[in-house]
Amino acid sequence: MKITRQTFDECMFPCYSPLDFVITRAKGSYVWDDNGNEYLDLTAGIAVNSLGHCPKLIAKTLKKQSERLLHCSNIFANRYTLTLARELQHRTPFERFFFVNSGAEANEAALKLARRYAFDKYGEHKDEIISFTHSFHGRTFFTVTVGGQDKYSKGFGPRPGAVTHLPYNDLEAVKAAVSDKTCAIMVEPVQGEGGIIPAAPGYLKGLQEIAHAVNALLILDEVQTGNGRTGRLYAYEHSGVQPDILATAKGLGGGLPIGAVMTSADIAAHFGPGTHGSTFGGNPLICACAVQVLRRISEPKFLEGVTVKGGILAEGLQKIGKRTGMFKEVRGLGLLQGAVLADAYAGKAGEIQRCLAPWGVLILTAGSDVLRFAPALNIRKAQLKEALKRIETGLIDYLKIHQI
Ligand SMILES: Cc1ncc(COP(=O)(O)O)c(C=O)c1O
Repeated sequence: MKITRQTFDECMFPCYSPLDFVITRAKGSYVWDDNGNEYLDLTAGIAVNSLGHCPKLIAKTLKKQSERLLHCSNIFANRYTLTLARELQHRTPFERFFFVNSGAEANEAALKLARRYAFDKYGEHKDEIISFTHSFHGRTFFTVTVGGQDKYSKGFGPRPGAVTHLPYNDLEAVKAAVSDKTCAIMVEPVQGEGGIIPAAPGYLKGLQEIAHAVNALLILDEVQTGNGRTGRLYAYEHSGVQPDILATAKGLGGGLPIGAVMTSADIAAHFGPGTHGSTFGGNPLICACAVQVLRRISEPKFLEGVTVKGGILAEGLQKIGKRTGMFKEVRGLGLLQGAVLADAYAGKAGEIQRCLAPWGVLILTAGSDVLRFAPALNIRKAQLKEALKRIETGLIDYLKIHQI
């Protein structure tokens, strides 16, 4: 069957606008398209392929597990889901775990849990969720409403109520807004889709204090920042602020769809039998693989490597910014970095992303003003340096073509 980029336009919903080629295979930090072109991949499937493309560890586990137990649903307990929960218990301060298939589902479950906890403990009036402008929490109707970007939630009819959006990194705004009605504050430790904006020092601690003063829960959305991406297993460890509920996904499955919600036994108890569920969530096939991924990414040496390579990436981007004049700031944590375009290039992130592909490097955007970089956590230093070279060459060419 002939499959080309045009097939996308002829067969798929147009809610994406993929680049002008079709990917046929990938290995490690390399991707190949249908014309045999090779790309260095700094996208990792949007911060998902934590161990690179098609790692042997996952291939081996998939094969073994697919012959042992693929799926049995959550009406039965299975060894592989329970193993993942135990492994997370050993590596984090959390006591109870709920598995889902995506980041949106993890956040949806976290928000529902916070509402149910407040409802059970304090009554119906305590339902207000505070979140932040430019935040992104997923595409279910609840999570997209809690996300602070109107463009994603408008135009679908009435949105779920009792959600308040406040400016990020502004504790005074939160102090002024919380009340007895507040049941949870949901926040990303680094705003990802919103432009790679790290929490200011003391911000998460401040949020926790404000939340707890009104008996509200702090929910951290670590869908993108979790699973080693920032050089710690979970990004909250940088601040020492343990959230009441943590939601994660993306890198946990190393390329397979899984999300997790983590909390204390006391809070989890409010999701009794029948209150919430998922047919596929915590599927044994994916959990068996996630166990392997988790063991690998939580090795101290591996995490140190992420920090070192994050430094190389940030420094390399800063140099490119100086030489081309195209970036006004490089910011991020570990291997999640953003290059904020200088005013002359504002709004052109998508165009620049497309221009870099023919130079053999794939990058992400975070909004229209920020180039985003989220390579595999095990990318080699030499590959990272080669990718930086390709970016610089591509950007210089971009400037020439556009005669800027
Ligand atoms: C911080 C954050 N939360 C939630 C999501 C949604 O995750 P998913 O696309 O897996 O539903 C994303 C995805 O980009 C994200 O970055």
